[in-house]
Parts: sequence; structure tokens; C-alpha cells
Amino acid sequence: MAYEWNAEEYCETSGQQKAWGRELLGKLHLKGDERVLDIGCGDGTLTSETAALVPDGFVVGIDSSSEMIRLARESYPPGEGQNVSWEVKDAGALDYEEEFDVVFSNAVFHWVKEHQPVLDGIALALKPGGRALLQMGGKGNAAGVSDSLLAVLTDPDWSKFYGDFSFPYRFHGPDEYRIMIERAGLMCRRAELIRKDMVQEGREGFAAWIRTTWQPFTERIPEELRERFIFEITDRYIDGHPADPRGRVHAEMVRLEVEAGKMTGPPKPLNR
Ligand SMILES: C[S@@+](CC[C@H](N)C(=O)[O-])C[C@H]1O[C@@H](n2cnc3c(N)ncnc32)[C@H](O)[C@@H]1O
Repeated sequence: MAYEWNAEEYCETSGQQKAWGRELLGKLHLKGDERVLDIGCGDGTLTSETAALVPDGFVVGIDSSSEMIRLARESYPPGEGQNVSWEVKDAGALDYEEEFDVVFSNAVFHWVKEHQPVLDGIALALKPGGRALLQMGGKGNAAGVSDSLLAVLTDPDWSKFYGDFSFPYRFHGPDEYRIMIERAGLMCRRAELIRKDMVQEGREGFAAWIRTTWQPFTERIPEELRERFIFEITDRYIDGHPADPRGRVHAEMVRLEVEAGKMTGPPKPLNR
């Protein structure tokens, strides 16, 4: 299921996701001539920063949201002299064959229900010797926020909109991920959970985060009731997790970070 994204609003309120993405990008140690695929590129900010790091290479940003790709294209138009291009494409429908040295993805894969087809597509998209660096919500991510949401949903005023609802995110752990990476034919070099402190500027900042990135929950609520719903979740969360002395609201996040590589030759036969 594809969720609606408000690309402009995401662009304005995603400082934290971008900061973590920049940290992740730094771990790639790009030489400058690589071809990079950015899966779930969103508004394109990090993708264009990646393009600046590979002046002799090229970056392709893909995203399943046409709204996100529209904004990326408007903000960073492809064309002569540009080393970035944009495409609306689902992570589960990658159709590249040995085209990329690096696959990068930040804050995307927990939105994807079936990870195996995505990893299979990455394995095919990478050149031999290529590598992937992926960070996504992992096991235990945003547990306090999910608890507040689920508590608010016990109110019949809201639960009536959630008849056939199932938890939309996939928060995997390292062990299950390692198996999927290897099943795709890649070598898993690292898979680990990393704790992060998500900081929002007060009640309004927290509500903006719920509004823009928890839309699988909020979009079920009729528009005229949605703001009330968002602030009920926000207030319930802040009741249990009061703001710090500077008025900032914190949420404990858990990211799954994965590094994988594609072998340069055919896989070695198993010793029997
Ligand atoms: C939180 S944003 C992250 C955007 C960007 N990577 C960043 O760090 O700012 C998540 C993005 O994943 C995209 N996305 C979600 N599911 C996807 C899928 N199955 N295939 C491709 N993109 C997807 C969304 O459209 C959205 O742009």
C-alpha cells in the first residue's frame, strides 16, 4: 500500500531524518566516481548532497511517491551537466542489472512490507564488488510513540476508523535481516541496532512529526477530525514523556543499520 506524502511538509520537518542520513552518508567514504542508487530518496535533499560527493559519478534517486519525486525534480532539475536523475519506482520493483557501485537508503525500508524482493533487487542492481548501506527503523523503534497511538485508539471515537487495521511498519532485527541479505546472494558485513534520540521542538514540533510521518495512522481519520486526533496522541505521549527543560520532546528510536557487499566472482562452492 502506498501512503500519501506531503512532500513540502516533509522537507520542512525532516531535519532529524536528514541529520541521521548525513551521518550515514559519511560512512560510505565515496571516492567521487561511483554510480549510486538512493532508494526512497524522498524530497531529494540527501540524494543531491550525494551527487555533490561523486562529481565524476552519477546518482539515481527513486521513490514510490510521485509527490516526493515531483519536489525532488523541481528542486534539483536533471539535465546537462547534472549528475542526478529521478524516477517514481517502488523499492520492490527494482529492474537494474549490475548498474550501481553503491546502493544507499535512509529511513525507508520500515515502510516496506516484504523486504526479500527489495534485497533481491539490490543484489541484481549492484555491480560485482558493489556495496549497500541501509538504515531503517529496527526492532523496538519508537515504542513509546506506538504505545501512545495504540492507547488513543482504544477510544471508540477513534477505534471505529480502524476496523481492518494492521501495524503498518516492519521493524526487523539484525538476525532475521542477515538471513534475508544472504538469501539475496549478498555478503552481510554488518547488521546492528543503533539507539537514537529523536528530538522535536515542543508540542507543535512533535505534532508536525506525527502529521507528516505517521500517516498510515492519521489518514484513516476524516480530515475534519484529524488535528484533534494528532494532538490527542501528542498529549498522551508528552504526559508519559515530559519535555526537557528547553521544551524539547524526545522519542527513543532504534535504527537497524546494514552493510552488505556483492562478491566479485561467482559464489564459492560449499565444502562438503
Ligand atoms: C522518511 S522518508 C525518507 C526520505 C529520505 N530518504 C530522507 O532520508 O530524507 C521515507 C520515504 O520512503 C519512501 N518509500 C516508502 N515506501 C517505499 C517503497 N516501497 N519504495 C520506494 N520508496 C518508498 C516514501 O515515499 C518516502 O519518500
